[in-house]
Amino acid sequence: MISTKLPKMFYGGDYNPEQWDQATHQEDLRMFKLAGIDIATINVFSWAKNQPDEITYNFGWLDELIDSLYESGVYVCLATSTGAHPAWMATKYPDVLRVDKDGRKRKFGGRHNSCPNSPTYRLYSERIADKLAERYKDHPAVLVWHVSNEYGGDCYCDNCERAFRVWLKEKYQTLDQLNRAWNTAFWGHTFYDWDEIVLPSNLSEEWGDRYTNFQGISLDYSRFNSDSMLNCYKLEYNAIKKHVPESVVTTNLMGFFKQLDYFKWAKYMDIISWDSYPSLTTPPSETAMANDLMRGLKDGMPFMLMEQTPSQQNWQPYNSLKRPGVMRLQSYQTVAHGADTVMFFQLRRSIGACEKYHGAVIEHVGHENTRVFREVAQLGEELQRIGDRLLDSRADAKAAIVFDWDNWWAIEKSSGPTIALNYVQQIHKYYAAFYNRNVQVDMVSVDTDLSAYDLVVAPVLYMVKPGFAEKLEAFVENGGTFLTTFFSGIVNENDLVTVGGYPGELRKMLGIWVEEIDALFPDQKNKVVLKDKFGKLQGSYECGMLCDLLHTEGAEVIAEYGEDFYKGMPAVTRHTFGKGEAYYVATDPEQCFLDELIEKITTDKGIQPNLSAPSGVEVSRRVKDGISYLFVLNHNTEIVSYDLGQLEAEDLISGHQLSGTVSIEGRDVQILEV
Ligand code: GLA
Ligand code: GLA
Repeated sequence: MISTKLPKMFYGGDYNPEQWDQATHQEDLRMFKLAGIDIATINVFSWAKNQPDEITYNFGWLDELIDSLYESGVYVCLATSTGAHPAWMATKYPDVLRVDKDGRKRKFGGRHNSCPNSPTYRLYSERIADKLAERYKDHPAVLVWHVSNEYGGDCYCDNCERAFRVWLKEKYQTLDQLNRAWNTAFWGHTFYDWDEIVLPSNLSEEWGDRYTNFQGISLDYSRFNSDSMLNCYKLEYNAIKKHVPESVVTTNLMGFFKQLDYFKWAKYMDIISWDSYPSLTTPPSETAMANDLMRGLKDGMPFMLMEQTPSQQNWQPYNSLKRPGVMRLQSYQTVAHGADTVMFFQLRRSIGACEKYHGAVIEHVGHENTRVFREVAQLGEELQRIGDRLLDSRADAKAAIVFDWDNWWAIEKSSGPTIALNYVQQIHKYYAAFYNRNVQVDMVSVDTDLSAYDLVVAPVLYMVKPGFAEKLEAFVENGGTFLTTFFSGIVNENDLVTVGGYPGELRKMLGIWVEEIDALFPDQKNKVVLKDKFGKLQGSYECGMLCDLLHTEGAEVIAEYGEDFYKGMPAVTRHTFGKGEAYYVATDPEQCFLDELIEKITTDKGIQPNLSAPSGVEVSRRVKDGISYLFVLNHNTEIVSYDLGQLEAEDLISGHQLSGTVSIEGRDVQILEV
């Protein structure tokens, strides 16, 4: 439980009363009560208000705000305000300003804009976190500490360049080792002095921006940049912990956010929190997958939904309204995947600057007679009724999908074999195959203990980090089923090819050898042809993008290519290894192929769907004290029905007892306690 002071799903969100007068604030408090709102995230962008100059700190307004929220029953998620530096700081200490990838020094403006290696930023961000923690350490309103806001971006300034060299020295010790790791003998890029190393930007190795000339330096820069920002976060984290060791400290993440290695960040976060902004056209499976990734960051620990919009965004090209019921449906979807809070950006809609057209609980009209407010209040009432019943419940998946940030960076900075390869899309295709059948799946890292799983899928495991191949082998030898795909096992953690035949370290376990990789044009297709019926798979299916030309070395051929000069060569294989099996999918087949393949494999392993339900109905499960909670989420606009079979259940939301054939309205939700 995040806090015993508020033993229910926290309900609230970002609140910026510094943009308003007192009367409005009083009116807000009245409406928060009507909506069942019990937490406000405050002080996110108030650094300039808190610190008007180098030596003055004004927290009086914050004292009053926290007190007045608390007195009216609203707890606080207290941000440290370092997501945007004050203008005076930029003028006086230009080192806080970033330099972009084209080498342009920025001026004051925007947010999330501080150089992570700026001595000034580090000094003052740590200091304000320290002052806030000292001041509010005993305030009963504060339940969660929110460091900065949505860390991201990059910087190519001289401070970053110097810090990069220090980071590299720590990592490689000698230039010899660095030259080897980066394969600098290529194009004569050998370094003889650490100071010869410059950041890989559009002025240097990433000239042209589509790919990098040197994967090694570019990969290390991505790692370094993620670490640099993590170090800023850690400074503030430690400053808070110094005063409040028992505090719950987080920063709001962004799902599949490429720049930061969230698995690494998660180690320094007491709880994961994230901001979820699906658009009208985002498939529910993508939102589900992002939530599962956030749950996976801390091995299944419940996380916070820190932000979602009650109605619309402002920053998408076309900012559709969330249709009636969709906000509630998406909120419960997030809870279904592991959230223990439901929070919004924002509680009141601002009148100026770029977020004035961003949805809010309280709209510009200012009163509660709006569709959005009514929907927010209905959900608030439901969450009050549900109370603590779902808190700390866990998903209990038997299948896992491996996700890895270094792999993501390496794949997508690669020159060749195709520009069409998108790592997250590939992950999603396999995720969707589980999701479409309502089979529970965890998103895991290469460091996760795999022993709890029966099936591990690692799409496009291009980079195999030290020890991971052995870990997978042990998993399969002990009876696990493993599946990987084309373009896997190619390089080590430095993006150096493992010679002796692809898929390198995975070759023995997979019982295959890949000789060549064909890249297809977007409208060029091949076929995957089943040798025999395999589950529901039979006949032929379309495939494209990349086709590995492979030979078996003990693996059995399940399907072959149907076209081109490699017609008849294996396209899908299975290898018995120890007590387990390892599958290889050598190309990118159409979704229905993957759906049937995963159905066959999960069925063979005895991994059951949570419930069989009609298309568009998601069923996810959380478990607590031996009780299962099945979240039935109807993403269709129409009423549908499903069969509970032998199950008898109580719907936590309506209180109804359900059995037999159950109907569910379009966009409605049921939480079945079984
Ligand atoms: C040119 C260059 C070679 C090599 C090839 C790759 O011909 O001279 O060094 O880069 O392109 O296609
Ligand atoms: C992010 C930020 C918020 C706000 C919202 C708008 O999540 O953290 O400050 O800008 O986007 O969607």
